Amino acid sequence: MRSTSPSSRDSFTSKFGVIAAAAGSAVGLGNIWKFPYEVGQNGGGAFLVFYFFFIITIGLPIMISEFVIGRRTNANAVRAFKKLSPGRPWYFTGVMGVAAAFMILSFYGVVAGWTLEYIYQALVNSFKGMSPAELSEGFNVFLSNPVRPIIWQVLFMILTAIVVIGGIKNGIEKLTKVLMPVLLLIIIIMGVRSLTLGTNIDASGEIIGRSVDGLKFLFQPDFSKVDTDVILDALGQAFFSLSLGMGTIITYGSYIRKDNNLNRTAVQVAFLDTLIALLAGIAIFPAVFYFNVAPTEGPGLVFTVLPSIFQKMVGGYFWTLAFFLLLAVAALTSSISLLEVAVAYFAEELKINRVKATIITTIMITSLGVLCSLSNNVLSQVQLFGRDIFASMEYLSSNVMLPLGGFLIALFTGWAIKRSDFYAELSNEGTYKLKMFNALYFIIRFIAPFAIGLVFLYSVGLLG
Ligand code: PFF
Repeated sequence: MRSTSPSSRDSFTSKFGVIAAAAGSAVGLGNIWKFPYEVGQNGGGAFLVFYFFFIITIGLPIMISEFVIGRRTNANAVRAFKKLSPGRPWYFTGVMGVAAAFMILSFYGVVAGWTLEYIYQALVNSFKGMSPAELSEGFNVFLSNPVRPIIWQVLFMILTAIVVIGGIKNGIEKLTKVLMPVLLLIIIIMGVRSLTLGTNIDASGEIIGRSVDGLKFLFQPDFSKVDTDVILDALGQAFFSLSLGMGTIITYGSYIRKDNNLNRTAVQVAFLDTLIALLAGIAIFPAVFYFNVAPTEGPGLVFTVLPSIFQKMVGGYFWTLAFFLLLAVAALTSSISLLEVAVAYFAEELKINRVKATIITTIMITSLGVLCSLSNNVLSQVQLFGRDIFASMEYLSSNVMLPLGGFLIALFTGWAIKRSDFYAELSNEGTYKLKMFNALYFIIRFIAPFAIGLVFLYSVGLLG
């Protein structure tokens, strides 16, 4: 079964390239846009506890499984299952992953488009002197315009398609290698500024807010706020943030060289991803409380709060611009991984040439995305499952399809692949000693599917 990379398939060239590309997929709007608002809407610290728990006990083992499946087979997310379990319906997991990629990228492209608008606004210095209330108002005005967000979204999707057409080595790897570390640095600097904001006092001496309250919100769990929705949101966010459950990591795994230590790569990627989400939380929540913005504000949260922090920094113009530029790049390195799942499938399974496959998929996804964007204005009355189009795409993909995909991937790895094959791939044919292998294997076979199933059944009301 084992084979070396066929020369027709592209691959990552260096160890750092692999980590940067996989971390590039993981780190994105999920960390900086979605994570803070999920924390805000789900009561703060308690959400964080569940999130960490799911990252370690479910996310990491499933990431390792996806890497193993991808590299073992050198194939796209659908063929990988067909190769390892011929004639069985497991490949359905990959098909669902391609569908999830479509749905996620549709709304992801919209939010990424917002970051482009913010780059433009930063460039023309229009945030200067604005209060948080004015920034929030400005965001809502932008969103209520049916055309403008779509122009940015289309532009972003074209950029994504261009990088994907460029291929793995030329496009994805080069971009992520340089820019990921810079993003990390800027978020740390923002965190320091946010933490040192102190107490906000108005002209009459009234306290408006204190930045330490943001830290308390983030780190002091209040378990009375926890219900099954909070737990499902934390699980969905863990999958979304680590790019798991839909074959992205399988697809990237298929481009990884045989001498890479997959275990270590998975740990590094999960660590970096969690670190960046946490740092984003540390940058945002002290400012949220200092400016007295509602943490439950939802998807607009970071677009209101972050420019407010920059107003308080020396060189605010420069920081705002640099931050939104890097946020757009982080979104791009994730969106290319989403598009790559669909393109690899169409190009290799349906035998369409890569450029054509990219163009067709981009057009389809962007069209669905236009509906998501319009659901913030003219289509706001259209409801699917009690949510508008944007929110239903987000909910269905992160909270339903990704956990379901993860559930199937864990079952597949634990029960359909031979234990010795799994061990051989993970240890690079015995080159590495895997000390924790038994525990890992036990989690993949029993704990992960059981835990995902439990959260799922509770949240749809079939238990409890
Ligand atoms: N992990 C990305 C983020 O946090 O922004 C989003 C994402 C990319 C989700 C790729 C799923 C995926 F397959």
